[in-house]
Amino acid sequence: MQVYLDNAATTKMDKVVADIMQTYFIDKYANPSSIHQKGEEVYNDVEKAKDKVAKILNAKAQDLIFTGSASEANNFIIKGVVRANKDKGNHIIVSEIEHPCVLGPAKELVKEGFKVTYAPVDKKGRIKMSELKDMISEDTVLVSIMTANNEIGTIQNIKKIAKLVKKSGAYFHTDAVQAVPYLELDVKDLGVDFLTLSAHKFHGPKGVGMAYIDRSVKINPLISGGEQNYSLRAGTLDVAGIVGFSKALELAYKNREKKIEKIRELRDYFLEQVKKNIKDVHLNGHEKFRLENNLNLRFNGIEGEAILMDLFNQGICVSTGSACSAKNLRTSYVLQALKINSDYLNSNVRFSLSKNTTKAELDYTVKKLKETVARLRSFSPIK
Ligand SMILES: Cc1ncc(COP(=O)(O)O)c(C=O)c1O
Repeated sequence: MQVYLDNAATTKMDKVVADIMQTYFIDKYANPSSIHQKGEEVYNDVEKAKDKVAKILNAKAQDLIFTGSASEANNFIIKGVVRANKDKGNHIIVSEIEHPCVLGPAKELVKEGFKVTYAPVDKKGRIKMSELKDMISEDTVLVSIMTANNEIGTIQNIKKIAKLVKKSGAYFHTDAVQAVPYLELDVKDLGVDFLTLSAHKFHGPKGVGMAYIDRSVKINPLISGGEQNYSLRAGTLDVAGIVGFSKALELAYKNREKKIEKIRELRDYFLEQVKKNIKDVHLNGHEKFRLENNLNLRFNGIEGEAILMDLFNQGICVSTGSACSAKNLRTSYVLQALKINSDYLNSNVRFSLSKNTTKAELDYTVKKLKETVARLRSFSPIK
């Protein structure tokens, strides 16, 4: 049996999304910036696709900039906003458990004279609000805190954080890449100035990200040299990608409640079965404020990497942390931020489900996991 439980890394594209995208490679191939009829036809399709996304996010279509990834969108927002608003100050706050594509640009900005402070989280991965409050100063230009963490699935109270940040006069960005379809992403209700998404995390195409930006805020372009995207990101529009993104997002939010209820039930069933069959297993992150598709588990006494390899040999795909760090065996900085006992920092496995996950797949995984853990523990020096 083949089981894919690495949906936080990426998801399988929906067939309808792939079919729609195909149209724009073969038939409707004109450049949306061309002024002839074929170009205009494609331009209109892009506009319709953007309108659909805007409606779901309760944003304006002109506030959406499609990019080549969420990593690009995060770089664009973080660098673009602080560089354009130097008159407001030189201080940035990011949480210590942000994705590397937020931590990276923040670090780069230090070389340009900006100050970066890292907002700490508690043992379950939630932002310590009073510490965040104390960090914000008159010089703070931008605060970036992710909606939900990719490794441990912990969800932040973005509405509350945005309110606190906005009250101080700073701008607020949230990386919501892992949140679709698990949370409603109404940018007005959340009170965010900037938000990032990535299509491949919700059964859309890889290589298509999106930056929601409140256009009343000054922002520098990341790629200049063309008038596309209101001169904020030059380059011929990725028509197939934008249409694919839009369709995938529309499908993600269709019957959302029912879909996530099913995923939650399966995840809870899986956890119950794992605990029933395997001793000394602990949940990392928050039991309540966590994404419905995420289970990050700690198997004391054995290496997560060894579990991963063993499961892979039995047809099961899981992960030890984020996809970006999976190939270099670094200890997870996210788990370190939770102050987990250092003996257990490398004993973790992330299981991430999707709407395609079945009970039979989970039963098979529990069976194989039980055998794997028993075998590895039998020769583990750590008891
Ligand atoms: C929270 C988070 N932000 C950003 C990204 C980067 O997304 P992309 O692959 O589109 O660059 C990821 C992907 O792993 C993620 O999980």
